[in-house]
Amino acid sequence: MAGRIPQEFIDELLGRVDLVEVIEARVPLRKAGREYVACCPFHNEKTPSFTVSPVKQFYHCFGCGAHGNAIGFLLEYEHMEFVEAVEELAAGVGLTVPREAASRRGGPGPDLYAVLERAAGVYREALRAHPAAGRARTYLEARGLDAAVTEDYGLGYAPPGWDHLLGALGADAEGRRRLLAAGLAVARDGGGAYDRFRDRVMFPIRDRRGRTIAFGGRVLGEGTPKYLNSPETPVFHKGRELYGLYEAQRALRRLPRLLVVEGYMDVIALAQHGIRYAVATLGTATTGEHLERIFRVTPEVVFCFDGDRAGRQAAWRALEASLPALRGGRQVGFLFLPEGEDPDTLVRREGGEAFERRIAQCVPLSRFLYEELEGRADTTSMDGRARLVELARPLLARVPEGVFRELLVDGLAERARVERAQARRWLQEGRPPAAPRAPGSGLARVHARSPVRRALALLLHRPGLAAEVGAEPERFRGLERKGIDLLVQLLEMLREHPHLNTAAVLERWRGTEAGRHLERLAAVPLEVPEAGLAQELRDTLAKLEAEGGARAWDRRWAELSAQLAGRLPSEWSEAERQEAQALFARRAARHRGEG
Ligand code: UTP
Ligand code: MN
Repeated sequence: MAGRIPQEFIDELLGRVDLVEVIEARVPLRKAGREYVACCPFHNEKTPSFTVSPVKQFYHCFGCGAHGNAIGFLLEYEHMEFVEAVEELAAGVGLTVPREAASRRGGPGPDLYAVLERAAGVYREALRAHPAAGRARTYLEARGLDAAVTEDYGLGYAPPGWDHLLGALGADAEGRRRLLAAGLAVARDGGGAYDRFRDRVMFPIRDRRGRTIAFGGRVLGEGTPKYLNSPETPVFHKGRELYGLYEAQRALRRLPRLLVVEGYMDVIALAQHGIRYAVATLGTATTGEHLERIFRVTPEVVFCFDGDRAGRQAAWRALEASLPALRGGRQVGFLFLPEGEDPDTLVRREGGEAFERRIAQCVPLSRFLYEELEGRADTTSMDGRARLVELARPLLARVPEGVFRELLVDGLAERARVERAQARRWLQEGRPPAAPRAPGSGLARVHARSPVRRALALLLHRPGLAAEVGAEPERFRGLERKGIDLLVQLLEMLREHPHLNTAAVLERWRGTEAGRHLERLAAVPLEVPEAGLAQELRDTLAKLEAEGGARAWDRRWAELSAQLAGRLPSEWSEAERQEAQALFARRAARHRGEG
């Protein structure tokens, strides 16, 4: 079983990947001097304050304070898990991720994927051959699914009884533990366990890489709950996943769009009729995370809902979730079905082509937006039209600056029958103030006068400096200085690994308080030319030593004076006399400028 990823591999990886390429593939970058800039992908802005340093292999936004290395970028931007990000980067530079021997620290992930995959196999096999599976096969046939689609979506069957899966995969304690952790078995109060899914058609839910991460199980016919779903586990987060996305990407090299529907069966029925780009949220409202996933694979999305009240409400929530994602070239549409229909019933009745014509005639987001708002404001009156603008204001404020927003403003001006400039002014007055800077991201903290911070910033800027100036950690150990331990640790690490780049150095502190501190310092621009960096570090370290020394003197002197207080010099011990003399000699030397 896979274990932890060795640190040396992460070092090597971060030495090989090019952060500029990683980001460029997702956010267009422009070269500006030695760095690259873009409008920040993590907050809305008009002028670029997001910079990427090819030397440091580190990005930083001066607007919102976002920063990190290539791994951090994928975690933030793609919402990947750590291991997923490492694997993605490794694949990009042709490396295979090695694993240390399995250990608990590797997390339950690898274990869970394996047991979920095996469970999917057990269910598929049961659908094919279990004595009780005849009803399930008949049920699927009655719903119009053929063998090919059943197989594409990996459908299976959980037989009746309490221990079919437990019997197959949970014979020993370890197997049982895994089934419980994967949400496939449920613990009994008095000990023992039973299968969670019984006598249900099983729909494996796969992540975008095709790994089974959870299941939905449907009763055959009526019964409640109609669907039983896996609970949240370390590998399954319901609000993020889109059922059918993996299958859609596998079936189509280029997705023309994604059609978001509500149910498992809708996705599969559409696929059965040749519409292979449908995905479903798992019984939850559309979230911003869904939207990000969608727009990562296609610029066009159509949300499909019932035409009834509940359907329009769900569509409105999807609209709201979409607003922050509306950028250049992206399209969002809404398809409302006749009441009482869902995509499954409709596509089976009308066929795939008729259904695709409906998709082509979907309502664009702007129209849906304004029609809904007009329903709440009577635009035949002046007051009503002003109210329309008021209603639109908070919504438009969530759309990033750009062409799309301009179009929405135009549409609003038209409907409110005011000049475009007027509409824009109204909207602007109500705009929320610019996002506050993240604490610590500002430049004020950068000109760190503390030599510890300055030394850290210099070393992070160019880790090779440590070897260049021969900075021995021993010189600084035990100095009375805030942050000195971190500096010593950093120097020790760099002595052992002198060739790490900034990104790799920071990686070693990921997720720690010290790491956050270091990342902030790494983001600080140094107002020193490259050629002067080594001297700057030497001076800083010398100053640090001297000041640290002065503090040590102060402290020792305070201790010694307390010890000697009220005693005559003749009563001092020899050691005390010598130390007092030494302390004075040191101070005198420092005052003469001898350090
Ligand atoms: P639907 O009731 O529309 O499901 O619920 P469906 O897929 O069309 O089911 P069929 O056609 O009756 O077989 C939409 C989605 O909501 C979730 C499921 O993800 C389902 O696909 N849901 C629904 C549940 O999780 N549990 C339920 O009991 C019902
Ligand atoms: Mn249905």
